[in-house]
Amino acid sequence: IMNKDVHPPHKQTQGDEIRAIFRGINVDVLSYGPKDAIEVTNVAKHYFNTEGKNVRSNMTLLMAKAVSTHLGLQLDFNLFKDQMKVAQAAEMYHTASLMHDDVLDHADLRRGQPSVNSLWGELSSVYGGDFTMGLATSEVAKLKNDEVFHSMSKILESLVIGELQQMSATRPLTDSSAHRFQRYLTKTFNKTASLMAYSCQSVAILTECKAGPDRTLSKMAFNYGKDLGVAFQLVDDWLDFVADAELLGKPSAADLKLGLATAPVLFASEEYPLEMEPLIHRKFARPNDAERALKIVMKSEGLDKTKALAEQFCQSAIHEIRPLKSSLAKQNLEDLAELVLDRIK
Ligand code: FPP
Ligand code: MG
Ligand code: MG
Repeated sequence: IMNKDVHPPHKQTQGDEIRAIFRGINVDVLSYGPKDAIEVTNVAKHYFNTEGKNVRSNMTLLMAKAVSTHLGLQLDFNLFKDQMKVAQAAEMYHTASLMHDDVLDHADLRRGQPSVNSLWGELSSVYGGDFTMGLATSEVAKLKNDEVFHSMSKILESLVIGELQQMSATRPLTDSSAHRFQRYLTKTFNKTASLMAYSCQSVAILTECKAGPDRTLSKMAFNYGKDLGVAFQLVDDWLDFVADAELLGKPSAADLKLGLATAPVLFASEEYPLEMEPLIHRKFARPNDAERALKIVMKSEGLDKTKALAEQFCQSAIHEIRPLKSSLAKQNLEDLAELVLDRIK
């Protein structure tokens, strides 16, 4: 984001702030059971020591600024401090879900580095994720705002449901392709977009609480996060077929190897149902299934259609925030929607 001249507020301090929470907690957990506590804290901190893109926390902070400016509350520093906690929690929930995800996906690499599970083992990765999740939740609780607590807790619920929907995604033979695509989009909302939607909604609620009972802006913020989140995952699903392992920091065509039929495969299967359907159905499990599916995707319009759909969702995200008064933060939110697409241009 920084490279592209968008200026998210407090980008430089975001990682530091999250690290500070871990430093703070370190002292507490040490008094319970030194060895184990040190280990779980180190495990939990692992991904915060690498420089991730912080897309989620930056998006959340930009939304906070844009909505506060809209309501004339941009100088309320205490409000912004609370919104910062939401942004931190968003990044921590995301990181926690990755620690669980890398166990489920048997991934050795994350962000170009050895994953937690490959360094410390699967149990540590699960506990590291649980611990990070607990820590983030206690930060959100400190805000003493029921609406925000409810909104942020929906993230945890959605992430787990999304993962379960992904696991059970082989379609019954009777399912229409439109229905199946809808299920893919619902899964995508839960797995990826929910975190952005509920985090954006939560910071907007914090601003709205200062002004009165109207929740129009937080609904709008939710929709922005939802649309951009779906676009973000569509881009990821596109990249999985196109980018090489080095660029991704993780293996390419990994989804097929995991048995997952994402948007490019679903589109390709509408064009070449006889070839693709059996492969989807057996989750690309037989030798050469993944290679065959890859070839079918490449000769189909699946990748182009996925890209076009991602563009549509980005446009829709930009459209959502049109009612906001113009501000630098609003401009940055629009730029962020464009940047999501930059990865596939
Ligand atoms: C990455 O997807 C994973 C997610 C976006 C969410 C995973 C959620 C869980 C494992 C449920 C547990 C959740 C909590 C609340 C701790 P991916 O595997 O497609 O992407 P990748 O290529 O980055 O691994
Ligand atoms: Mg994974
Ligand atoms: Mg996964």
